[in-house]
Amino acid sequence: MPYFKGFACFGCRAAYRPDQDLLLCPACGQLLDAQYDLEGIRRDLDRDRFATRPVGVWRWAELLPVLDPAAIVTLGEGDTPMLRCDRLARHVGVRELWVKSDASNPTGSLKDRSITVSATKAREFGYQVLSCDSTGNKASSVAAYAARAGLRSVVFCPEDTPTPKVTQALFFGATLIRVRGHYAEINAMYRKLIHSGAVHWYDCGTDNPFRYEGKKTYAYEIARHFDWQVPDRVVHPANGGMSIVKTWKGFSEMRAMGWTSHSPRMTAVQAAACDPIVRSFHAGTAEVAPIQKRPTIAGALAGTDPGLLGARTLVALRESGGDAIGVDDSETVEAMTRLAEEGLFIEPSGAVAIAGLRRMVAEGRASPDERVVCVVTGSGFKDFDRIAERVTIPEGVVKDYDELLGAARALQV
Ligand SMILES: Cc1ncc(COP(=O)(O)O)c(C=O)c1O
Ligand SMILES: [Zn+2]
Repeated sequence: MPYFKGFACFGCRAAYRPDQDLLLCPACGQLLDAQYDLEGIRRDLDRDRFATRPVGVWRWAELLPVLDPAAIVTLGEGDTPMLRCDRLARHVGVRELWVKSDASNPTGSLKDRSITVSATKAREFGYQVLSCDSTGNKASSVAAYAARAGLRSVVFCPEDTPTPKVTQALFFGATLIRVRGHYAEINAMYRKLIHSGAVHWYDCGTDNPFRYEGKKTYAYEIARHFDWQVPDRVVHPANGGMSIVKTWKGFSEMRAMGWTSHSPRMTAVQAAACDPIVRSFHAGTAEVAPIQKRPTIAGALAGTDPGLLGARTLVALRESGGDAIGVDDSETVEAMTRLAEEGLFIEPSGAVAIAGLRRMVAEGRASPDERVVCVVTGSGFKDFDRIAERVTIPEGVVKDYDELLGAARALQV
């Protein structure tokens, strides 16, 4: 018996059945929030029973909005590494720092957590085509999961999307439509297309309430890792803010089920050059006001308007007693370099979490005594040129063993 009970509208609180193929609330156009029989799960299922299942997002199946387990489309996403990084902790200035590397997901970014759910729903509902708008990572994820499901994909990306991301999507067989303009403009056009009914594609973009739920698994994985003793703070890069909203939902569900007794402070990090969530959080407004586009190295976070999600993000940050902070590109590059010193190859947008935490501690907004989890969200291969420009491949080439030995000897100290 599924514990997924349907949706409630964040706006008008209208309720919808679990088998309905929905995006936004048909009554008022607001975002929908999946509802579960948490009391039933608490009664029937032990938290430690989940913990012994095969790894990945789907070990939490009862907490995901899926009705037909046979429809599940998976590439082995989730349960990404949790790495204690003491050197990085000293650099950042906290007692205990854990890096959760979502770069280890199948397509190299956090997006796989949510796209596995939307691809599954596309199969349940009988669609033939998956689609999304994207700054790049979502596009490659949608393309991969469509391929895995034997479906087609169409992705809409800004024309300046990094080549590795669009290459990955194309190689998975996606049809790529490059669009002029910045992400907020493309998002508005794409959503207009989807809601016009002109195409019968399964939307894996910002309005899909099923997809969002996949992000909750961050919270479950983190709590389980610490034997249900949650950390003081979880820091995550934010573009639309969905990851913040759903991670917070996961922690809230665990408390409601009596699995945990605390929740972490959720902390959103954006590029200072593109920080609409940060600004509105500190301005104390209920909605996020769009800002003008400014360039940043963190291209996946270049959204100037989080739209409907913005208000939900502010609620999650405030309810959790969290914070929001912007970082300069130079701090992001420093964070990427420090992550590399730990053996982690992370794209700029994924590395901002480290830079944000460091700044929070320096400004006295996070305590040095905290145990913190920073999520790094995308592989360095995703924005390869940004990294390639920071190293020099030596020009010389050794031609035989003698030269090789000479080169090695020259390195002896
Ligand atoms: C690498 C990376 N990190 C973080 C995010 C932010 O995710 P969200 O939209 O959930 O805030 C994105 C979104 O595109 C991303 O590509
Ligand atoms: Zn509504």
